Amino acid sequence: MEQIVCIAAKVFLIMLMLLCAFSEREEFVANFSGRQLRNVPQDLPSRTIALHLSQNNISALLFSDVSYMPGLKFINISYNFIEELDLGIFALNKDLQYLDISHNSLRSFTCSSIHAVQHLKYLDFSYNKFRTMSLCKELHFLSRLKYLRLSATEIHKSDFDAISSLELETLYLGLEDLSSYERGSLQAVTTKKLHIAVPKGVASLLPLLDAFTTSQTLELSNIRCDTPCEYPTTSISQINKLSRIKTLIFSNLTMSFANVGTILQSIFNSSVEYLYIYSLTLVHKYLYFKFDFSNSVLKKLAMKHISKKVFLYHGIYPNRMYSEMVVEDFTLSDSDIVHLPCPPETNIFHVLDVSENRITDVIFQNCSSLVHLETLNLRRNKLEELAKVSSMTSSMISLSVLDISENLLYYENGRKCYWPVTLVALNMSSSGLTDSVFECLPIKIKLLNLQNNQITSIPKAVRLFTYLEELNIAFNRLTDLPDCSRFSSLVILNVEMNSIFSPSFESSHNCMNVKTIYAGNNPFVCHCDLRDFINQGNIAPDRLSGWLNSYKCQYPDGVRGTLLKDFHLSELSCNTTLLIVTILTSTVVLILCLCFLCRFFNVPWYIRMLWQWMRTKYRTKKMTTQDLERDLLFHAFVSYSEHDSDWVKNCLLPNLQKEDGSIRICQHERHFIPGKGIIENIINCIEKSYKSIFVLSPNFVQSEWCHYELYFAHHRLFHENSDSLILILLEPIPQHLIPARYHKLKALMACRSYLEWPMEKSKHGLFWTNLKEAIKVKIPTSEQAVENPLHCNQIDELELDS
Ligand SMILES: *[C@@H]1O[C@H](CO)[C@@H](O)[C@H](O)[C@H]1NC(C)=O
Ligand SMILES: *[C@@H]1O[C@H](CO)[C@@H](O)[C@H](O)[C@H]1NC(C)=O
Repeated sequence: MEQIVCIAAKVFLIMLMLLCAFSEREEFVANFSGRQLRNVPQDLPSRTIALHLSQNNISALLFSDVSYMPGLKFINISYNFIEELDLGIFALNKDLQYLDISHNSLRSFTCSSIHAVQHLKYLDFSYNKFRTMSLCKELHFLSRLKYLRLSATEIHKSDFDAISSLELETLYLGLEDLSSYERGSLQAVTTKKLHIAVPKGVASLLPLLDAFTTSQTLELSNIRCDTPCEYPTTSISQINKLSRIKTLIFSNLTMSFANVGTILQSIFNSSVEYLYIYSLTLVHKYLYFKFDFSNSVLKKLAMKHISKKVFLYHGIYPNRMYSEMVVEDFTLSDSDIVHLPCPPETNIFHVLDVSENRITDVIFQNCSSLVHLETLNLRRNKLEELAKVSSMTSSMISLSVLDISENLLYYENGRKCYWPVTLVALNMSSSGLTDSVFECLPIKIKLLNLQNNQITSIPKAVRLFTYLEELNIAFNRLTDLPDCSRFSSLVILNVEMNSIFSPSFESSHNCMNVKTIYAGNNPFVCHCDLRDFINQGNIAPDRLSGWLNSYKCQYPDGVRGTLLKDFHLSELSCNTTLLIVTILTSTVVLILCLCFLCRFFNVPWYIRMLWQWMRTKYRTKKMTTQDLERDLLFHAFVSYSEHDSDWVKNCLLPNLQKEDGSIRICQHERHFIPGKGIIENIINCIEKSYKSIFVLSPNFVQSEWCHYELYFAHHRLFHENSDSLILILLEPIPQHLIPARYHKLKALMACRSYLEWPMEKSKHGLFWTNLKEAIKVKIPTSEQAVENPLHCNQIDELELDS
């Protein structure tokens, strides 16, 4: 018992160790954000790679807090109360790439051990208690640094000297509380993008003037003017002078309509080509601006998440302003727009994105001014009737891409659709459409996205779409591959996540010319019908995209989850005709083989011999002792025609009597008792013999005497109910040679229970063995036999058939 417990404990320990060793290799993310911690948690797994500690009450970060986690890549300890930091504490965290220590109480930090963090990509020191930006001069060692975030209340010219040699992606300056800025300070910085949280009031002027010439991309954020404000409006409006900015981004701003108007007009007169405005809250009241685009190089204007806190709302103004924008690519998304008027003839929109609003299908009906429009995005609006949407686009004679996904669309059967012939890409995903949508499609459509609708099949009578190259019907309710013969140019077909149990032979062959098919994640039934499809996949795995891991059996239960590529069914188990043909063929071959063997090796003869031998054996066994106790003198009596005596004397007798004389044969010449009649002698001989051997040949049947002998022997056969006859067929006897009256012989021959004398020498051995076996029986010794006088039986039933 103790031993068992001991072994069990050992096994458990080993498993635990294995588990530990295994889990040790997995990376660990420690998330302790917002837990009101006062200290950094100790004893974390040493394999920790990320440490989230933001929004706690931690006042110090020490060497011992992080040194035991050598794989640490990410530390976020923002929003805490750390006052001091020595970068040397990361001496054992050689992989540290992200360090966010923003929103703490740092007044200074020690960078003498800056080499410890030389892999840093991202460093955020913003929103601490630094008064100036005089960064430690060793910062230029961080050659891999791409993102740097700082903030200060005072900026001096030398502040950025330490990072002037770094090539940053983004420099963020949190300057909301800036009080003084020395003109030209930003000039030292090299960064692709400069992001400034804009100073309040007039303090914004100088830094922004410098920012307009520092980088090509500028983001200005955190501007809040709840009432019309002079600054930073005036500061930003300076952008039209000397600016190098190509991409300007505003994020998170609250402004009056008037201020936005002023700023936009100055941007339209500047170097800015791409203007993005994210999260704008409009306050105060609407005004109408007639913008001047005569100096504009603007290519794109995108506004997203626009909301309004306006008391005096006049809906016409903003709509009118949008329609008068002179920009090719215009976005007004997620801005609660209900209606868009038809713009004047002068508009140059090529791309119009008004996604995520509340626009209905009454817009742009009979609107003939959007002649340049190539791409129209109406994703996630309130469009409903597909035929109406089509008539809306009918006069957009350049339209090639239309996105009306995520609307609640329906198509009323029989209504005519009017798409522009130029339309080649149509996105109608997630729109609740059914099979009938195929009756309302642009003729020259090349890319059609019908993902996530209610399509069960593509109607048989659908017209040919000879231009269609890419068809996406994923996430629908298809039960089979579509009929690709309707789409002669199809290159990509996506039918993932449908209800395809088993693609039909016809459809999968019709889709043979499609270059790439995505059909994974369907509930495949792994059965004979699927074999053709599986073969296609195995032959050209590149054609069925994701073949190696996203095609699995769903049914039957036994093979659920098996990848189709690993599922095999033999040709034989699936093809009934083949199965029958195979069975028939093999049977025929077997029979032919047997026939051949029989002929070649004379098998039937051997079988007959064997059969005789077995019968003899069986009978000997059955014989009772009483049978054997009969006074037998001979093993066998041989009856033969005089003409066959040569064979009997030279062949049969020597072979049977050979050896020790243990087998005795009764011959009528030798053992006949003189004074008795021939018939009596014959009967005696038969009576005293265990068996009677008859050598059959054409000569035999001619001999009258032989027939008597046979008759007697046969009589005994019935009389004593024991089969004592052995027939040896020395030569074949044609039936017609047997005289008609010898019907007994005929009957015996017909039974074919005779031994055939083989011509081939090789078979003689078996013949003799068989014959000897048949007459082998224990018989009193010859001396006794001689002493016993032969008993003579009364011949009473002797009757010859005549
Ligand atoms: C650190 O956490 C703060 C607050 O949870 C979050 O705003 C900030 O983006 C995080 N910093 C990084 C680099 O992910
Ligand atoms: C089609 O619309 C869906 C949903 O809005 C979007 O996820 C997908 O990217 C769009 N496809 C194309 C090709 O624009």
